[in-house]
Amino acid sequence: MTVKKQEIIHVSEGSTTLVLPKSSLESSKPSYSIPFYNPRGGWSRDLSISLYSVLAEKISGKILFGDIFAGLGARGIRVATEIPRIDEVHLNDQNKTSMSFAKKSAKLNGVNDRCFFSSMDVSHFMAAQASSAERFSFVDIDPFGSPAPFIESGLRCVVNGGVISLTGTDSTVLCGVYPRIARRRYFGYSLRTDYCHEVGLRLLYGALAFSAAKLDLGISPLFAHRDHHYMRIYARISAGSRVADLSISNTGLILHCNSCLGREVSTFPKTKCKQCGHNYQIAGPLWLGELHDQKLLKKVVSSNNPNLGRRHDNVLDRAIGEVGMPPTYYVVDTISKRLLVSSPRLSTLLRELGDEGFKSCRSSLHPRGVRTDAPTAILSSIIKKLAT
Ligand SMILES: C[S@@+](CC[C@H](N)C(=O)[O-])C[C@H]1O[C@@H](n2cnc3c(N)ncnc32)[C@H](O)[C@@H]1O
Ligand SMILES: [Zn+2]
Repeated sequence: MTVKKQEIIHVSEGSTTLVLPKSSLESSKPSYSIPFYNPRGGWSRDLSISLYSVLAEKISGKILFGDIFAGLGARGIRVATEIPRIDEVHLNDQNKTSMSFAKKSAKLNGVNDRCFFSSMDVSHFMAAQASSAERFSFVDIDPFGSPAPFIESGLRCVVNGGVISLTGTDSTVLCGVYPRIARRRYFGYSLRTDYCHEVGLRLLYGALAFSAAKLDLGISPLFAHRDHHYMRIYARISAGSRVADLSISNTGLILHCNSCLGREVSTFPKTKCKQCGHNYQIAGPLWLGELHDQKLLKKVVSSNNPNLGRRHDNVLDRAIGEVGMPPTYYVVDTISKRLLVSSPRLSTLLRELGDEGFKSCRSSLHPRGVRTDAPTAILSSIIKKLAT
């Protein structure tokens, strides 16, 4: 058998240099046989490094990071290079070629003594880790498609107080194109609405909370965001039946009215919209609590991590602002289109809502998204007034 020699390139992300086969940049579709690297994921990895850096500062003792679907090691090698506080990074990917490149990157960045590599099927890798004396303080679950099949094993690999991050790229399922598949994978129905990405993120948190509860574990959301076709959440995992019960008490349904765009949250299904009497559509069961940890995100912003650019700052600032606000946002342009009026500037709308005595803020999940405690009819009348 002749093995084709791979053409090698070097790519910089943050202060890390990654050694990659050129083929990884040429393949447009994820594949099990071609080593995986997505240059567009750099933005999300920059955010991860900034978050993990702040989180790691608070941990005493030895810190192990599990990059269990490592691909070419972009995230794991960056963690080892850019977060010296993390003692060991364990990179696993069933693709052996990927792991051989990740080893080259570790060497080039001078972190090979802190990096450990394996090419196991992830289920075996997680089972081995769960029974080992040392568990991970951080586990990143970033498979192709849905993270759902790996959640429970991931939870078994993490220490009490550790952090799990999950990425879902099955956006058609999470965003309501296939609600019944969402029910099967994430325990709740997704919904095709303007705020479908928020529903998707809440389904991810919900699935994590339901799986954790079976193991007497609770979750505390840290940060949720979306970009392109993926959604990503970070949550702290704590042991105990009380925290598990508390997590479950933060789950329920979002009831959505397609006629007036009204919505409410409830622990039990209701059929009729309380604002116009039209039939409700139902999303969930899913996570209804906060999406982000405000204190943590403020620390991330003030850490001035060199990885954070203007776009990160915008997302983080809006995420900080939306803590304590109602779940679900309105896309202002949808309402103005229905009213056949021009859309207001968001800053003008937010000021007007404040003047009328309502809370409001921008959403971190949609460039034209606004959260408010104003009833839908009042929001509509304000949008109409601003257009005249
Ligand atoms: C989305 S990529 C990971 C990307 C990587 N985390 C990054 O930031 O660049 C998914 C990876 O999971 C690996 N993979 C898929 N199924 C696996 C399994 N059952 N066990 C181990 N690795 C698997 C694939 O080879 C692929 O490299
Ligand atoms: Zn209604």
